[in-house]
Amino acid sequence: MSKTKVIAFANNKGGSGKTTTCSNVGCAMAMQGKKVLLIDGDMQMNLTLSFFDEEEALAFSESGKNIYTALKEEKDLTDFIVPTKYDGLDVIPSTSLMSSIEFDLFTKWQREVVLKKCLAPVLARGIYDYVLIDAPPTLGGWVMNVMVASDFVIIPVEASPWGLFGLANIFDFVGHVKNIAPRLEILGIAITKADERKNYLKQTIETLQETEGVHLFGTYIRVDSAVEWAQDNSQPVVAYKKTSRSATEYTALAKEIMDNVNR
Ligand SMILES: Nc1ncnc2c1ncn2[C@@H]1O[C@H](COP(=O)(O)OP(=O)(O)O)[C@@H](O)[C@H]1O
Ligand SMILES: [Mg+2]
Repeated sequence: MSKTKVIAFANNKGGSGKTTTCSNVGCAMAMQGKKVLLIDGDMQMNLTLSFFDEEEALAFSESGKNIYTALKEEKDLTDFIVPTKYDGLDVIPSTSLMSSIEFDLFTKWQREVVLKKCLAPVLARGIYDYVLIDAPPTLGGWVMNVMVASDFVIIPVEASPWGLFGLANIFDFVGHVKNIAPRLEILGIAITKADERKNYLKQTIETLQETEGVHLFGTYIRVDSAVEWAQDNSQPVVAYKKTSRSATEYTALAKEIMDNVNR
């Protein structure tokens, strides 16, 4: 079997669609027969809540079956994997304790590679085609860990007036990470929450197309209320409402990502 591809979904801007894109792309990949592990790297636990209800999510926090416990104790991530109800799709849940991860990492030996080391045994077993990591809206030591452990970064960008503001920061940050992880690649920018009635969608697309060194995915994710209904039901929209516009778009984006990664 080919090597597992590790992809981070990152953008320091909150609400840019990272979690929704990560959960739906992952679920779409699994629905196409791939083996996928999703890692929730955000204290807001939104990725975890995309598959489990609040009670189940809190149980993962209390039992220690979460990314925070694994990192703090520097354990093999294999023991923290939880299956979802979808075939081929597993999750490592987050917990609100992730709010102190920066502090916990600070005193660790080789603090930029803690996640990479914890993930290594999972990759060595070679059962996953893809590991997708949902990053929090920050650019610090923890997101550094997320990127160092990844082969690719995907940057979801909201098609809004301020969606592009601050994008230079993440490009600079990836540049710094490359000092430690030279093979890290920005796979592309995914436009999310696009509303075709708004002029700034066209403007956002044009600006990104003109930006040198930026690959813009051809699939745009448009605003769709089915996304929120799905989240309310602890399900990704690709599984909750397969016929919805957004389900079709996330499925197309997943295909595009797999094609780009395996080029
Ligand atoms: N395609 C979409 N259509 C409608 N709402 C969306 C869509 N994508 C994301 N959202 C909503 O936008 C908000 C932010 O999305 P989220 O994925 O949580 O962003 P981030 O993880 O970057 O903070 C959420 O409330 C989510 O439900
Ligand atoms: Mg999020």
